[in-house]
Amino acid sequence: MKGIILAGGHGTRLAPVTRAISKQLLPIYDKPMVYFPLSMLLMSGIREILLISTPEHLPLYERLLGDGRRLGIEIRYAEQERPAGLAQAFVLGRRFIAGDRVALALGDNVFYGHGMSGMLGSVASRQSGATIFAYRVSDPERYGVIEFDADGRPVALAEKPERPRSNHAVTGLYFYDHRVVEIAENLVPSERGELEITDVNRAYLEMGELHVEKLGRGVAWLDTGTFESLLQASNFIQTIEQRQGLKVACLEEIAFHQGFIDTVSLLEIADTSEDPGLRTYLRSLVEQRDCDEVPAG
Ligand code: TTP
Repeated sequence: MKGIILAGGHGTRLAPVTRAISKQLLPIYDKPMVYFPLSMLLMSGIREILLISTPEHLPLYERLLGDGRRLGIEIRYAEQERPAGLAQAFVLGRRFIAGDRVALALGDNVFYGHGMSGMLGSVASRQSGATIFAYRVSDPERYGVIEFDADGRPVALAEKPERPRSNHAVTGLYFYDHRVVEIAENLVPSERGELEITDVNRAYLEMGELHVEKLGRGVAWLDTGTFESLLQASNFIQTIEQRQGLKVACLEEIAFHQGFIDTVSLLEIADTSEDPGLRTYLRSLVEQRDCDEVPAG
């Protein structure tokens, strides 16, 4: 399976900051926002990734992430001339996807919670259909909204409805089989001139092949598009990291646990890191693993 990160957009709600900088490079506490969607793809076991951003900002992402080799993955880059909708990712990424299954992660979505990596692994192994994640919110009118029947089956999708028929928002992480490219290429732009991801999901719903995973109250889904939510997300991640002494969305750690890089490579990253905190943290992961591997007795 392949993965796409959408890190373009206008970022109008974060002006004037986004006049000079790409939103998804802004920090969430101690790391760039884009690390969060990237970590979700890595936890899903995805190693081939396409990052899409504006022509202006793409070089900044390349400088930050490079070709991904140090993490045991491959990162490629593509330009989106103007933000013409989330579903355009599949049109721009057609050659990259090359008939495989693909996951899409929005660059400004942060997830954190118990059981996420196990769930992602099993969703990514689903061979056919689409999977989206629903999350209960107090302000569904700001999002794509999903309606369920009495048996909990998805029956309808609406994009930013004035009168939402449920409190379940569609979050910014989507998994599709190979048909998504053709579906996206045949979409008609919406009234706001965008290729809508809701229309892609509706196509799968109509085929009876849309799986919806409800994220429970044990999971936090934070959208970081406004100054309030950006600050809240930073405070949230800082609280968790300081309390537990563990890092959230540490790419090197996830790559190590996924088996994308071995102990030697992890220690090499630690030794060459300019961040002393990360150096100590990565070394402690190896020591921890060595302790875990000592046979009992
Ligand atoms: P949005 O939150 O819809 O929009 P935005 O980031 O442009 O912000 P604002 O509403 O403040 O103007 O975008 C969700 C994510 O998807 C975000 O990370 C930007 C990205 N995106 C693209 O990369 N290309 C697009 O065409 C669109 C619509 C969004």
